[in-house]
Amino acid sequence: MAGRIPDQFIDELLARVDITDIISSRLTLRKTGQNYSALCPFHNEKSPSFSVNPAKQFYYCFGCGAGGNAISFVMENDHLDFVEAIELLAKDAGMEVPREQGAPDRYEQNADLLNQLTQSASFFQKQLIENEQKTKATDYLAKERGLSGQIAKVFGLGFAPPGWDNLLQTLGKSGDQKEQLLLAGMLIEKKDQAGHFYDRFRDRIMFPIRDSRGRVIAFGGRAFGDEKPKYLNSPETPVFQKSQELYGLYEAKQNTQQLDHILIVEGYMDVIVLAQHGITNAVATLGTSVNSNHIKKLFKLVSKVTLCFDGDKAGRAAAIRGLEATLPVMQDGKQVRFLFLPEGEDPDSLVRDIGKDAFTEKLEDSSSLSHVLFEHARNQVTLADEEGEAQFAQNVMSQIQALPEITYKSVLLKQLEEQAGIDTSKLSAQKPKYQRTAEPAQQQHYDEAQYTDYDDIPLPEHLAYDHDEPHYDYSSTPAETGYQTKKKNSKKSFGKGKWQDQEELPPPMAIALTQTEHAILCLLLHPNVAADIEVSEPLLRQPDLDMQIFSKVWRFFNKHSDKNLGHLLGNWQNQEQTEKIYYLLNHQDAHTKSKLINAKQEVKDMIASKEESLGLNNAISRLKSKGNETIKDNNSREELRRLIEQMRKKK
Ligand code: UTP
Ligand code: MN
Repeated sequence: MAGRIPDQFIDELLARVDITDIISSRLTLRKTGQNYSALCPFHNEKSPSFSVNPAKQFYYCFGCGAGGNAISFVMENDHLDFVEAIELLAKDAGMEVPREQGAPDRYEQNADLLNQLTQSASFFQKQLIENEQKTKATDYLAKERGLSGQIAKVFGLGFAPPGWDNLLQTLGKSGDQKEQLLLAGMLIEKKDQAGHFYDRFRDRIMFPIRDSRGRVIAFGGRAFGDEKPKYLNSPETPVFQKSQELYGLYEAKQNTQQLDHILIVEGYMDVIVLAQHGITNAVATLGTSVNSNHIKKLFKLVSKVTLCFDGDKAGRAAAIRGLEATLPVMQDGKQVRFLFLPEGEDPDSLVRDIGKDAFTEKLEDSSSLSHVLFEHARNQVTLADEEGEAQFAQNVMSQIQALPEITYKSVLLKQLEEQAGIDTSKLSAQKPKYQRTAEPAQQQHYDEAQYTDYDDIPLPEHLAYDHDEPHYDYSSTPAETGYQTKKKNSKKSFGKGKWQDQEELPPPMAIALTQTEHAILCLLLHPNVAADIEVSEPLLRQPDLDMQIFSKVWRFFNKHSDKNLGHLLGNWQNQEQTEKIYYLLNHQDAHTKSKLINAKQEVKDMIASKEESLGLNNAISRLKSKGNETIKDNNSREELRRLIEQMRKKK
């Protein structure tokens, strides 16, 4: 299974599968002329603007602009990466995915170890149904924690019975197996007897920790009572770096219909209980603080991340670490919010107490990133009057400087100017009070940790978590709160934060311009750059309002290098577009843009990124739609290779 999937196979696969079948097995399609239409799975809508074109083998949504071929659909809809999507499509098409020769990856090297972990998970699950002491575990789960059998099954919960060698006796029959179990962290070697082992996890409820593809890579084991530690976790192993993983991410991807928002909570139980209440989009760090890698990873999947913290002092300190982890990896178009829970509550207790709807409401009323940032900067001020104000501004600046050069940064600077009544261009020239490294130091709650990314590696089939496996269900009566697999698209909301009574400024993310809007603004304010910029035909034909405006503005100034904004507006007919142009010209960013010296680059960047994503989404299907045999000419082939390469990198 080593190595990359040959491009030729991808060609064959796309020629073999029918996008209509693939989409209709996931959405309800209605025939409309040559095409099919449906409610778009990628944004919330009431009337269908999602269209599937069987002749050309692509889909396109006129509402949100999502579009592409069978592979990209499965990637987006099923939350899979490129390789996973291909594996799934190939399986359905009865094709075996070939691999080019290559060095074995981390997972292949550790196949035996992963296999032992998967078997351990099955062993623990089995104990929940078969072990003579199973009622201890099932009573704990059902009665003390109120979990349904269904939810226990979804998360693969199990029982490590009391005793020193239950797992060892069952799975560690050969020396080889013992060695693998030891490497996997499931066994511990006896201190005074080399070569003799005992079970690490004894008399605990077992939580398998899966990576984002569902591979069991570690365990957390909870004691039944007050024994210490409350949670015993697997040590770091060749396949488990705890600072890298998020508990429940795989389950969230599997069970959330439209995953556009992820909630980060503290504990395993929080994730599970939230899911049981229908909030299936929660994940937990593994006893560590939220770090930049976590946020980066989640930004690949969703546009909004909410960090959940206790309302107490420790919670606030953790929130600041979350803030500092977020800033260096923040992106335009992404949102990070902070939810502070009432003191003494965790998500588990709170959702039980107030229910799903009230909990969701709290989420919508969470604090924005800028709230937390400004509030924290304010709280750190120790001086009075003007000195205090200066200190505040300096504090804010030192945080803002951790942000990459994105629009959001200028939005925050603007906010700072307004709040502190200062010129931030002077401030930013000064040395920040303390220097920040790109990756802020993480405070670990329980363990040390390192980062390694090994998540983009294909999964050997036999190691995948087996969903079809028959499973126990210990609860004879269904729990009150049934597990829900469907989740309503969470409303995008910019509710007021809890930290400030009065929010005078509009929330930044609501007013931040998109890259396309920026590019339009650049052209409007610097018409002369249009002459030096080239825009490809497919881009000019994009149907969304902004691209239409962009195209029109560019065409106008590209053709008439002697004309200015006044001429353009004088010639403009379309009412909706005119309104949008005035909106942009009145936007606060217009002020900075007018002074911009690299307007040309900004427009070019937008074009490049649009063309790239267009390429990703449409060009492949365009080429594919000709059928395999027709991709004969070298240029098309070359283009196709390039696009597939981009798609490989995308996730
Ligand atoms: P908490 O102590 O907040 O517990 O740990 P909890 O999640 O509310 O657990 P319950 O409800 O009492 O069962 C939060 C997380 O911190 C890690 C675990 O990941 C846990 O889910 N932790 C906690 C440990 O790793 N070891 C511990 O001893 C305690
Ligand atoms: Mn708890």
